[in-house]
Amino acid sequence: MVKIAFNSPFAQKDEPKKEAAEALVADKDPEIATRGGGSSSGRCLLTLLGLAFILAGVVVGGACIYKYFMPKHKVYRGEMCYFDNEHRERTAEPYFLPIAEKADIREEDNIAIIDVPVPEFSDSDPAAIVHDFDRLLTAYLDLQLGNCYVIPLNTSIVMPPRNLMDLFAKLATGSYLPQTYLVREEMVVTEEIDNVSDLGIFIYQLCVGKETFRLQRRDQITGLQKRSVENCHSIRHFENSFVVETKICQQ
Ligand SMILES: *[C@@H]1O[C@H](CO)[C@@H](O)[C@H](O)[C@H]1NC(C)=O
Ligand SMILES: *[C@@H]1O[C@H](CO)[C@@H](O)[C@H](O)[C@H]1NC(C)=O
Repeated sequence: MVKIAFNSPFAQKDEPKKEAAEALVADKDPEIATRGGGSSSGRCLLTLLGLAFILAGVVVGGACIYKYFMPKHKVYRGEMCYFDNEHRERTAEPYFLPIAEKADIREEDNIAIIDVPVPEFSDSDPAAIVHDFDRLLTAYLDLQLGNCYVIPLNTSIVMPPRNLMDLFAKLATGSYLPQTYLVREEMVVTEEIDNVSDLGIFIYQLCVGKETFRLQRRDQITGLQKRSVENCHSIRHFENSFVVETKICQQ
């Protein structure tokens, strides 16, 4: 009750003030009032335009920064499962092994750089592989041994960059996990390469400072007998819709 009694006089006191303010607004020149409104809406429009310009600038600038500073190639991750027929007798069920890869494919350089991590289920070596389609050379860096091996690129095994990109784009969705087969090939070290600077910048970057050897397919070497003391390492990888085991033997 007391509060109401105190409040009502205040309300009454406020009312004359409000009236005075309304009178002031009404007293204003109607022309000035409308002009004032016009300029404020104009300012608003200008501000909006400015904001639009800033936004457009941010979008275009962002696109330019993206275009000039982002790498012009894409790194893909892919996984396949392959049927290892060497293990066929051990298990009744089909025995599929997974193999994962990371592929950096640079179409404008005609290069594919493949990373093969330490495999979970096989005794093959982790590796980095460069396929140089301009020089038609393949280099394997065996990451366990730290040695580099160079051989002419086998175009019937390695897909060209565009097709390889398509394959990895399909693999990257994860919904496509192909069950494939294993192709075996055997290579023999023929000579050491002292100077890797003539093998192109990508193979140079891979092999510089490493012991580097030239390879030849064993089935292309005539009159070479398999020696009893041979040091072989395998790298399992894929650059096509099937998995390849590259066995590299050093005598
Ligand atoms: C490429 O690889 C396939 C399959 O391993 C083989 O049959 C063929 O002889 C190889 N070609 C060259 C040029 O090494
Ligand atoms: C390797 O070869 C290149 C050109 O063929 C030459 O410029 C360079 O000095 C050589 N490097 C070594 C260590 O022999």
